[in-house]
Amino acid sequence: MNFRLLKDSDFDQYLVLLNQLTDSPKLDFQEKGIYFYRQSMHSGHTMLAFDEDKLVGAISWFLEPKASHGMKDVLHIEDLVVDEDFRGKGLGKALVLEVIKNVGDEWVYKVILNCKEELRSFYEKCGFRQSGIQMRLDLGEKT
Ligand SMILES: CC(C)(COP(=O)(O)OP(=O)(O)OC[C@H]1O[C@@H](n2cnc3c(N)ncnc32)[C@H](O)[C@@H]1OP(=O)(O)O)[C@@H](O)C(=O)NCCC(=O)NCCS
Repeated sequence: MNFRLLKDSDFDQYLVLLNQLTDSPKLDFQEKGIYFYRQSMHSGHTMLAFDEDKLVGAISWFLEPKASHGMKDVLHIEDLVVDEDFRGKGLGKALVLEVIKNVGDEWVYKVILNCKEELRSFYEKCGFRQSGIQMRLDLGEKT
């Protein structure tokens, strides 16, 4: 299994995989450019896992700088997905731990994410504990 960051040329297969997590329509060339620009503006990254040439997993994250907590950052994990045929082999957990290891703890004091109740046990196995509740306010048109 190889891990590497998302590149422009991966985008179409990445969106196909992402469809196993959420509806993700195909993006045209310009929309892809806008996505990469916006992701870099928000310190966002996406790491992909390949089994030979096949994309089998993905995870995204971004860092939120804090003026509190010794000026350290919060690491937000998003959009973790493993291809249906590759689930149950440790890849999802490996992706989470790889991101946390690579970001390190020198400038990050906590890692947070949102998930459904049924995934609580998966994230506990990755070392997380439940903390607080999520509140949500939908803005604008549904996308
Ligand atoms: C959630 C998901 C990423 C897990 O990936 P995976 O590669 O199958 O998980 P792993 O094999 O690394 O599992 C690690 C551990 O968690 C457990 N686990 C995996 N999925 C679980 C689930 N849905 N519920 C409870 N435990 C789960 C595994 O049994 C394993 O336990 P073990 O270490 O005792 O053997 C994958 O099922 C997926 O892509 N789901 C659809 C998208 C999604 O819901 N993403 C999460 C968004 S928050």
